[in-house]
Amino acid sequence: MESRFIRLDVYLRSRCTRQDRNDGHGSRQGAPSTPHVKTTIGRLLSLRTSKTPITVLTAYDYPTALACSAHPVDITLVGDSLAQVCLGYPSTTHLSLDEMLHHCRAVARGSTSPLLIADMPFGTYAPSVSDAVKSAVRMVQEGHVEGVKLEGGEETVEHVRALTKIGIPVMAHIGLLPQRHVSLSGYKVQGRTAQSASTLLRAAHALEDAGAFSIVLEAMPALLGAYITEQLNIPTIGIGAGPGTSGQVLVWDDMVGTWSGHKPRWVAITSCFVPPCLLWLRFVRHFADVRKEVVRGVSGYVNAVRNGSFPDSEREGYSMDRDEWEKFLAAEGRPSWTWTPVPRNTPTEDAVAES
Ligand code: KIV
Repeated sequence: MESRFIRLDVYLRSRCTRQDRNDGHGSRQGAPSTPHVKTTIGRLLSLRTSKTPITVLTAYDYPTALACSAHPVDITLVGDSLAQVCLGYPSTTHLSLDEMLHHCRAVARGSTSPLLIADMPFGTYAPSVSDAVKSAVRMVQEGHVEGVKLEGGEETVEHVRALTKIGIPVMAHIGLLPQRHVSLSGYKVQGRTAQSASTLLRAAHALEDAGAFSIVLEAMPALLGAYITEQLNIPTIGIGAGPGTSGQVLVWDDMVGTWSGHKPRWVAITSCFVPPCLLWLRFVRHFADVRKEVVRGVSGYVNAVRNGSFPDSEREGYSMDRDEWEKFLAAEGRPSWTWTPVPRNTPTEDAVAES
């Protein structure tokens, strides 16, 4: 009897994706019928225990959510990096809750197997625990996310506890906190002194005790990332925290190479071995060069329109029944009208720039 229950549970977990559960949350058209198992918090804990690396990617819209869902991405994060990479703001502090909700809904429509988490924007949780609860409830009810991420150390413990208590899973985030880049005097590596390493470790323990299901470790020495990971029972997700974390997260646009103006992912570090030099440590790897393809696509399109090779009337146009066309011309009183392609005026770059 018991084994039957276990089999039913495995079956249901493998079948019940967000796609199944999200009817009524908008169009599901184009969503893949994914073969991937739905990520649950229990599954993340098992991945951690079995030392299977956890994969996390950010997504900001329906197509990127579909792409994450089509692959074994464990968590899709609607990061507040949305502010810079999609909305052109200079920092994450400019992003409003309403803007975040708008993007969360788009991602939710395309998200199936990955656990869907979103960043709580700056100013929506830190002022008070009740602000955190109100904002997080909106993220779940209006943004259709499954959990929230919030930046901060021990000062956010009560916020994490309150959200966990009402059933909203929380991913904590310590180390470099981009929402505090001004008070941190820039996007700098954290935890490089014994004292700051201890502060981060203490925060990690406190956040775990408060109920966080996972913690993002951003921009800290690799050894500290591995040490914190070993000390906790919940999975750690690293970005610039070395290979010793339970998983890794990258910003979508960094991963595919569509974003280069991304200073937060470059961090200034001063090394005690090479004073007073300023080193630039880059912890992003481009796994594709979509930017190059975008340039190829846009210039190919512009050239094809200008030289008349796009659209091709046979392959890329619609035809009309000859009789109907002749009837139309007769009704217009112009039965002998014919179309002669006009010679093209191909503008030079300067002419386009001036127009
Ligand atoms: O905003 C973001 O994208 C993030 C991660 C990459 C950790 O917080």
